[in-house]
Amino acid sequence: MSTNQIRWQRGRVVGVEHAADSIAEIVLAIDIAHRIEPGAHIDVRLPSGDTRSYSVVAGSADGRRLTLGVHRSSTSRGGSEYMHSLRPGDEIDITEPLQNFPLRVGASRYVLLAGGVGITAICAMGAVLRRLSADYRFVYVGRSRSAMAFLSELEALHGDHLDVHIDDEGSGLDVVTLVDGVDHHTELYMCGPIRLMDAVRRQWHDRNLPMPNLRYETFGNSGWFEAEEFTVAVPELDVTTTVGADESMLDALRRAGVDMMFDCLKGECGLCQVSVASVDGRVDHRDVFFSEQQKNSASRMCACVSRVARDSASPRSTTGAVTLDLP
Ligand code: FES
Repeated sequence: MSTNQIRWQRGRVVGVEHAADSIAEIVLAIDIAHRIEPGAHIDVRLPSGDTRSYSVVAGSADGRRLTLGVHRSSTSRGGSEYMHSLRPGDEIDITEPLQNFPLRVGASRYVLLAGGVGITAICAMGAVLRRLSADYRFVYVGRSRSAMAFLSELEALHGDHLDVHIDDEGSGLDVVTLVDGVDHHTELYMCGPIRLMDAVRRQWHDRNLPMPNLRYETFGNSGWFEAEEFTVAVPELDVTTTVGADESMLDALRRAGVDMMFDCLKGECGLCQVSVASVDGRVDHRDVFFSEQQKNSASRMCACVSRVARDSASPRSTTGAVTLDLP
């Protein structure tokens, strides 16, 4: 892990609230004050020693409190379950706020797009644009009202700037219309499910909009298919192991004794990529590291987030399976 220059500190839980279905709002007090920039996240060290990244929804004016919104994933690899077990008074190891999704101040127009728990990465950007009286639209998409964290606060803060799209109320987002309403000077910042972000990326590309104006944060945890158990084999190492629905292929390979390289654990850096010799089923690419063309060839995959889904068209296939070559 690349933690060399990152400073760790203790964070004390001072508040835990229900924010939406499966989403907890967790407030941490920290001893060292930090300026919290929009788009910042912290890494949390789990009892296992692994780390997970969580966006900072908001910071207090004195820089000594951070608010997180944590979704309890049905495919939790231990991170969200641990975070949801926290209670006021508990202490955890966290990094200082880190930044790899900065908001560039000065664009002539902005669109902020949040899907589901992706709102946690976008909230602070909206607050800054509101404060700056910037020209912006804040688009918030959810499955249902009860699954949308911070909705009433956002409605109060952003008023007419906020467009809310709720699938089960029949007001789902039309991505084509959204992107068609964007001009060449608009910057769009998004965080949400891979299907939503992929649809925006394709439409953005089709319209020849400047790619540097499309910025996104990933959680690396939502795919095209439901997470399910599959088998991974590395014949050169005489390793065959099962990847449970609630763990990553990277975790399963490490548990089986395979020495793996990794860093971001979010499908962004490509350090954990493995070479695919054969696959029984379909590779569910959940990264943003490989290009569409590379994903289509399915010859490599990011072990930290990508999975294998059974091929439902194949009657003999009970679970998916992938065989890896050593690099
Ligand atoms: S560790 Fe960065 S893409 Fe997997």
